[in-house]
Amino acid sequence: MVKEFKFPDGFLWGAATSSYQIEGAWNEDGKGENVWDQICHNTKKVQNSDTGDTACDHYHRYKEDIQLMSELGHKAYRFSVSWPRIFPSGKGTANNKGINFYDNLINELLANGIEPVLTLYHWDLPVSLQKIGGWESREVVEAYVNYASFMFDHYGDRVKKWITFNEPLVFTIWFYSRGLYNKRDVRGGLISSINVNAAHAKAVEIYHQSKNPDGLIGISLNLSHVYPESDSELDKKAVIYTDGIYNRWFLDPVLKASYPNDILELIEKPYNIPKIPKNDIELLENNPIDFLGINNYSCTRVSAKKEKDLTLLGNFSKTNKVKGREYSEMGWEVCPKGFYDLLMRIDEDYDHPMIYITENGVAYKDDKIINGIIQDDDRIYYIKRYLEAAYQAIKKGVNLKGYFVWSLMDNFEWIYGYSKKFGLIHINFESQKRTWKKSAYWYRDVIKANSFNI
Ligand code: FCB
Repeated sequence: MVKEFKFPDGFLWGAATSSYQIEGAWNEDGKGENVWDQICHNTKKVQNSDTGDTACDHYHRYKEDIQLMSELGHKAYRFSVSWPRIFPSGKGTANNKGINFYDNLINELLANGIEPVLTLYHWDLPVSLQKIGGWESREVVEAYVNYASFMFDHYGDRVKKWITFNEPLVFTIWFYSRGLYNKRDVRGGLISSINVNAAHAKAVEIYHQSKNPDGLIGISLNLSHVYPESDSELDKKAVIYTDGIYNRWFLDPVLKASYPNDILELIEKPYNIPKIPKNDIELLENNPIDFLGINNYSCTRVSAKKEKDLTLLGNFSKTNKVKGREYSEMGWEVCPKGFYDLLMRIDEDYDHPMIYITENGVAYKDDKIINGIIQDDDRIYYIKRYLEAAYQAIKKGVNLKGYFVWSLMDNFEWIYGYSKKFGLIHINFESQKRTWKKSAYWYRDVIKANSFNI
């Protein structure tokens, strides 16, 4: 029997991208260098030595891309702004050509009836700010707040949904502890995460004081439900630690205006972390988010062998594949149940926040082609199951308002270069030709009907 899953009226359907992953034009029209330009050009950290120099050439093809979104019936588009296009050295004089690019992009979206959802920061920090200490420095926090304030003033008449940061966990604790910017440095990552939360709260404050404060402002966190591999006490503890640093460390500040005590205790001494400034907590208290953006792809399974493994970044995340579980091309477990459990848990523990799924999607090989169309039934099947989980959560009362597929099109997948494909639209990176995959057609029909069938 066919079962229909109908979404609430006005549910916001769209797709997401980010500046460095699609724009290209890395040194055009006065854009300053960002940390990813540097990682790509000067290190060997990216697979195949790929770079975002050209990427999807979206900087020159944004009209064509918006046309595609329009044909696909997308209601909204989540994109990010390249800070060094606006302020080439992070602060100081703004760059008119960069400002114009986003004016044109936003105007074109609106002319096509697509709502712009603007992320202020998706990892492409201006290099000159990395040089003065990156997110470890409060001077960078100040520069971010000035940049945000400029953006609210300039685009706030047309942009009504703002995201301060994309996935602070990733660009602070993970990238620092894995040595992406420099040497491995867990402390630097922790300090950065605290500074980013302060920058976030200050930006929310400034948004509400700006001349167009009538929109919504939130943050996108990458969250993952954590399961123990067994019933052992050690595994249960590993869950608390992992959930603490992956999820609560970022959820609590923006939804409870506090930091989780158990994690603070765990890090203060070993990493010599100073007390969280009182002013940060006050800022967070006075500037709650309007919505929580959730990026979710998978769940996390943990197990600890010894008590001494139970450290902040203890090596108990299971990465080896387990028979009977399903994995994507990234090696991430396909885990719609984890998505459902995550939504229910956030609703319960954080007082029923308004939620948008700002990223969800999957990388597969995409190598089955019939009549020129990629037959990505596995992607459709993935999204279907995640949407079913979203639907069930909404039925249980979760305040979920919209969903953005990652990604509109294949793009530069950070250290994996162009080897991992997440798009609804295939890009031929030689010719820049865009081709809809089967999933793009399917998603178009879901949006049109505001429902799907199983
Ligand atoms: C998220 C990032 C996004 C993309 C997806 C696959 O962590 O926000 O840029 O790389 O993963």
